[in-house]
Amino acid sequence: MCTNLTRQILSVDLSSLQKAQALLEAGCFVGVPTETVYGLAADATNGKAVARIFEAKGRPQFNPLICHVSSLDMAQAFAQFNDNACALAGAFWPGPLTLVLPLKENSAIHPLVTAGLNTVAVRFPRGPMANLIAAFGKPLAAPSANASGKISPTTAKAVLDSLGDKVDLILDGGACAVGLESTIVKVDGDRLILLRPGSVTLAEIEKVAQMNVSSVQKDATIQAPGMLASHYAPNAIMRLDVSSVMTDEAFLAFGPIDPEVSKNALVIENLSASGDLIEAAANLFSMMSKLDQSGALSIAVAPIPMEGIGIAINDRLARAAAPRELL
Ligand code: TXA
Ligand code: MG
Repeated sequence: MCTNLTRQILSVDLSSLQKAQALLEAGCFVGVPTETVYGLAADATNGKAVARIFEAKGRPQFNPLICHVSSLDMAQAFAQFNDNACALAGAFWPGPLTLVLPLKENSAIHPLVTAGLNTVAVRFPRGPMANLIAAFGKPLAAPSANASGKISPTTAKAVLDSLGDKVDLILDGGACAVGLESTIVKVDGDRLILLRPGSVTLAEIEKVAQMNVSSVQKDATIQAPGMLASHYAPNAIMRLDVSSVMTDEAFLAFGPIDPEVSKNALVIENLSASGDLIEAAANLFSMMSKLDQSGALSIAVAPIPMEGIGIAINDRLARAAAPRELL
């Protein structure tokens, strides 16, 4: 253990940020809120600290981590920004967009962070994570703070539930505003490739870059997390796009609930009673966890419109429903 803290969860204030910083300086990791999901953060230049993250998550080593920064300057010290990258960072940072960029040679980023790739994923988040990085003065490598393959946490309690006593300190900043992991775009010379959909949409990226952005094929070589077919998996089986709930199923609803459709449900959570996709994204992971913990063997999910952030919601649902033997 890195620390002897008696309380694992502390609300964000100056004193808890200082405790977090001391842990980072000692090569430990901490759970930190961002506007997307909670991250498990460690010094990106310290190989042992980064290795501890992989160990705690039970994460396949080929899956590289995002480097979080608190300024464009900090990012430019280790990643190469061309005009497209500068335009996207200018438009969306700080915010829920991750850029995959060429790694500068002899950068301070530990190779374990990039899993030996010659590219690096960079993001300038909003919220307490940015304050912590600014105080620490170095980039933080941080995957989502969940056991590998499981649902990403959007509250401090969900981090504790997923990783238990493996985490020394979790900063509690309340529920994450976005609730879905960042959009990931790879800047590959003059091309832009969407690796993972998120709340920054393809249309918004194309508007800023003034060019078409391609999406990776589902069966392409693994380049991003989301590319593992089964990811974000609850224990229950997931049935998507259902028009009627079967006996003893949990029901993840969206919009007004038709009593005919839901009459057999064991338990119901509604992503957004008013049919608001932003609200639905923010609720997705916590409601999936809640239904999973209800003990139902199957979760029936209402159809979610394929528009705006609904594309990212459907992406996460499809991965949660994918056959588990692929994990
Ligand atoms: O919103 C988020 O992005 C959250 C918060 C904590 O920032 N983080 C997050 O990290 O979702 P993670 O590790 O769960 O997913 C990031 C994914 C990795 O799984 C990896 O596949 C992809 O980013 N990635 C990282 N470096 C990459 C690289 N050089 N090339 C392609 N994909 C990369
Ligand atoms: Mg993750």
